[in-house]
Amino acid sequence: MTSAASTRFVPPPYPYDRLDRFKPMAAAFDGGLVDLSIGTPCDPPPAAVLAALATSDSERGYPPSIGTDALRRAITGWLARRFDIDLSTDQVAACIGSKEFVATLPQWMRLRAPERDTVLHPAVAYPTYEMGAILAGCRAVAVPPTAAGSLDLDAIDPADAERALLLWTNSPSNPTGALDDLGAAAAWGRANGVPVFSDECYVEFTWAGQGRTILEHGSHGVVAVHSLSKRSNLAGLRVGFYAGDAEIVDYLREVRKHVGMLVPGPAQAAAVVALADDTHVVEQRQRYRRRLEQMATTLSRWSGIEIPLPAGGFYLWFDAGDGWVFAERLATDGGALVSPGDFYGSGGSQNIRVAVVQPDDRLTLVAERLGVA
Ligand SMILES: Cc1ncc(COP(=O)(O)O)c(C=O)c1O
Repeated sequence: MTSAASTRFVPPPYPYDRLDRFKPMAAAFDGGLVDLSIGTPCDPPPAAVLAALATSDSERGYPPSIGTDALRRAITGWLARRFDIDLSTDQVAACIGSKEFVATLPQWMRLRAPERDTVLHPAVAYPTYEMGAILAGCRAVAVPPTAAGSLDLDAIDPADAERALLLWTNSPSNPTGALDDLGAAAAWGRANGVPVFSDECYVEFTWAGQGRTILEHGSHGVVAVHSLSKRSNLAGLRVGFYAGDAEIVDYLREVRKHVGMLVPGPAQAAAVVALADDTHVVEQRQRYRRRLEQMATTLSRWSGIEIPLPAGGFYLWFDAGDGWVFAERLATDGGALVSPGDFYGSGGSQNIRVAVVQPDDRLTLVAERLGVA
């Protein structure tokens, strides 16, 4: 019999904390550590967004959990302008950044379908898909990628499909940058009676063709998840949203009200302004594109490894033989911190993820240290 003690949940080390031992090596450089590990934006959000944050006069009362009318109208307005998708404001709601939504979703979906216990997620992926399943006491089952990097839906065991509470897709993918076939994911979900959640937080940084949403394939059975963190350099504000299937969104809105999931009022007001503006997104896209090219050139000159540009997102992702060995060498020789690929699943252990989230002059500094500027 399993003892209670052996089943007690012990949180695993937070992935980025595992990089702490490299920090002193990198920090010893003149100019200090250049952190290219966590994908945290460094560029400024629009001034009008900060003005809205300071002047909304919404501090006193509790904000609506689902989002203010103004925020939900800004969300549907953005979906219409950006993707030509027509949703009602009842089909969208706010979340406190998308991480909490990803991490808590399996609990709510399990309460809705207690006979099911499985979360399907991309095999090499943002770790919170798996962690959300673990936190809910569910099974996390990894779906392998096809050669093109999309979900290999044919590889899903029918027994797992029957037990599935939901399927996650993430396009553009963190960390691989691959674009998924969202139409195929939506069709698979409908055919198998499994809701599909599509994490689209990098959609504004799509390099191969147009940015795409799963909602282009209809909203029945699918929910798109978005974030202002990357689009508008507002990771510190904590505003995201989810949109799609009327019944699922309504269920999540109601349950999340009971939990007290509230985006602060001033943050909601600022998000309204950010969603209405596209100019800053165009500027940010240009910055990331330039930095991806600069960093790919620097690292391939230094290492001799051919480094592909991603189809989307702001990460370089490449096979370095051994992710940890490469990360240590780069900290020692270039004073830069990057993520070993096993942070994103054992299938990524040979890889390295480089987040181009530092100003251009900091990336040039790394190239100078490596002797390839
Ligand atoms: C794929 C993916 N989803 C969700 C998030 C969470 O972002 P936020 O909570 O800031 O919206 C991240 C953050 O890096 C991410 O990479």
